[in-house]
Amino acid sequence: MTEARSPIDAKTDVYGILGHPVRHSLSPLIHNALFQKLGIHAVYLAFDVAPERLELALEGARSLGIKGLNITVPHKEAALNFVDEVPEDADRNIGAINTVVNKNGVLYGYNTDGPGFLLALREELQVNPQGKSVVVLGAGGAARGVGFSLANAGAERVFIHNRTQDRAMGLAEYLEKHFSETEVHFLESFDLLKREKIDLVVNATAAGLHTGDASPMDLKLFSGQPAVYDLIYGSHETALLKQARQMGLRCADGRGMLAAQAALSFALWTGKTQGVRETMLEMLKK
Ligand code: ATR
Repeated sequence: MTEARSPIDAKTDVYGILGHPVRHSLSPLIHNALFQKLGIHAVYLAFDVAPERLELALEGARSLGIKGLNITVPHKEAALNFVDEVPEDADRNIGAINTVVNKNGVLYGYNTDGPGFLLALREELQVNPQGKSVVVLGAGGAARGVGFSLANAGAERVFIHNRTQDRAMGLAEYLEKHFSETEVHFLESFDLLKREKIDLVVNATAAGLHTGDASPMDLKLFSGQPAVYDLIYGSHETALLKQARQMGLRCADGRGMLAAQAALSFALWTGKTQGVRETMLEMLKK
């Protein structure tokens, strides 16, 4: 790979991420590192965009010729309404996008979170959801993407648990409607799992974001040895992952998914795939 560092000039392509808040995002770090490493004359910036300005921001990106964008919380669902085309059926069904490609003023929306999650499961935990029983913790946007990806990948049974039960019921109904071949259950209490063989637990709640947060569940409730994936990433280990590690369960935090979804967005923008995810992951694990 070439090491090139040319200054920002009139030919520099601009990419970025739209979120609110967005200053904590690691996406500029990993995308700029890849641009530099591959000698791509481009820069990636973070834009804090209030929800009521999202449409204007995307129109601005189109007008300014910004080549590509990531879309993050809380804009992933709304952004779907402001792009011109969503080429993949799965992305339309999930109802959220995290990537925009601007091709000559036409905005295309994609969702790389789902494929990124599945790639991370495979690479970090050696888990293929096909035929598996999975517990999904949470019922917000992240849980929706996770549930959708798992069912899409052939999970046999998905149990959804959430602090606010109505939301879990809503997500279970939504998944049932889209996937007739996956059994989807709203999980009222973890006690119901005592006799189930669970292969995988995914934390898609915000519990664990802050140091000292309690774990969203006690893994000792299971009789089996599920693998554990926590979407949260940061400088500290979450209580859930700490328990998983102490119990000797296979487990991983969200950095793998962050790198994988970023690498897939990067490929949509630049066509480059070789070593991209690995380099991003290396940077995140430093
Ligand atoms: P995201 O788009 O990141 O999923 P979200 O839609 O706000 O964000 O969802 C956050 C999820 O984390 C929800 O499932 C939320 O539970 P509620 O629906 O009950 O709010 C869950 N969550 C947040 N803090 C939590 C905590 N301390 N313990 C357990 N679940 C929590």
